[in-house]
Amino acid sequence: MSLPRLKRRQFLQTSTALTLGALAPELLAQVAATAGSAGPFQCMGLRIGEVSESTAYVWTRLTAASTRNEQGTVIPKRGKEDKKRGKGEGKVTEPVDGLSGACPGAAGQVRLRYGLKEDLSDAVTTPVMTAAAAHDYISLFKLTGLQPGATYYCISEVMGPQGPVAGSSVRGRFETAPLPDAPSRLRFCVMTCQGYADRGHPEGHDIYPAMAAFKPQFTCLTGDLVYYDSGDPDAVNVRLARYHWERMFSLPRLVAFNSNHSTYWLKDDHDTLSNDSGPGASMGELTFAQGQELFRQQAPMAPDGPSFRTIRWGRDLQVWFTDGRDYRSKNKLQDAPDKSIWGPEQKAWFKRTVKESTATWKVLVSPTPMVGPDRPNKRDNHANENFAHEGDELRGWMQANVPDNFFVVCGDRHWQYHSVHPVSGVREFSVGPASDAHASGSPGYNAKYHKFHRVEGGFLAVSLERIGAESRLRCELRNVKGEVVHAWDASRKV
Ligand SMILES: [Fe+2]
Repeated sequence: MSLPRLKRRQFLQTSTALTLGALAPELLAQVAATAGSAGPFQCMGLRIGEVSESTAYVWTRLTAASTRNEQGTVIPKRGKEDKKRGKGEGKVTEPVDGLSGACPGAAGQVRLRYGLKEDLSDAVTTPVMTAAAAHDYISLFKLTGLQPGATYYCISEVMGPQGPVAGSSVRGRFETAPLPDAPSRLRFCVMTCQGYADRGHPEGHDIYPAMAAFKPQFTCLTGDLVYYDSGDPDAVNVRLARYHWERMFSLPRLVAFNSNHSTYWLKDDHDTLSNDSGPGASMGELTFAQGQELFRQQAPMAPDGPSFRTIRWGRDLQVWFTDGRDYRSKNKLQDAPDKSIWGPEQKAWFKRTVKESTATWKVLVSPTPMVGPDRPNKRDNHANENFAHEGDELRGWMQANVPDNFFVVCGDRHWQYHSVHPVSGVREFSVGPASDAHASGSPGYNAKYHKFHRVEGGFLAVSLERIGAESRLRCELRNVKGEVVHAWDASRKV
């Protein structure tokens, strides 16, 4: 089964001033039935992504209820003693809508109003869009013509026959990037690897209020945002895969954070399909190709085009987001010069754009490590032996071309570290898992690599200041409560 793709063209077509008279009868009936305060609702809040100096995507999903299903059945996480509950079993024998945290979708219409004033008195109103089952009731608004370096406010309104449906609107805010010649005075966060059962707080991981307190201009969600193969249940089909997104991203702390911050979303193995997965793999009925399409539906980003991209945040910062799943060779292949995680097109794009960039600081946010060290038995990333050719090539290129103002921030590993590669000198921060209970797996402190090493959860908090003609950078590894556990400072003349 192939999923209907969320093509940008389709969005623009469906968004052109649909009136209620043009609605299909079943949708009219739905709208009539949900008039007043009966919904539909938006219990998963907003996601605001790919924000540039003038554009942004705003994502919403219409839901049948105003809250997630709090009373539903809980499928227990697979225990260590429960090895027989392997991949593909699923273990779900009832409708998915009845599971704990499910957010059944609802058809309807929605529009967005956005502006620079918090009271939205200056708001621009988008055309109304139709939320339908074919797109999992998701609507994606592309905003253009935004002002750089500005805070925007928005409200997503479910539309009924009399206008916005009472009690169904959701508010949000986000910040746009400054112009490329403006000094970068900003903060950003990077997080990764959020388990559901081990989130550490019923309303969502502690890192969310901790990141919000840092007041980041943007945040990168760097893969493993859900774990399809966690066993509670395994996402062995499209409906169960969507359920994983529903229950995670309807948690109140995640709704609050994602509705009010600019974010960039990257995928990794577990939120595409399963551990160390790549093209051609499957888990039960769910295919890797469906996993790729599902991620694009869930992420607030362009519905098509390359999954690798770069974004400039002022004079002093450019960030590259790479994809480690779409273009990779099979892990088990013998290592060779053409064995790749990035693929030739992404690699050429990376080298060309990094070289061309005039930003004071250049940061690669990678879903998997480039430096490590990792466990010796792992076979999925550039710090592993079986990708040594490409790992050496890329680290060597970084050393030769951007030796002084470039570093890597990686997701994937369930421990925090600050490493410097002993041969190439490439610097890498592993941001750590989103909760302490999700931390494990490190091969241990390694004096050849580590400036810092800690097997606990947290996130990376980066700040940039401009003092006279100097750009000052500070990278802080923080624990899940937001306390600084390690800091690295650097500065460059601009
Ligand atoms: Fe992970």
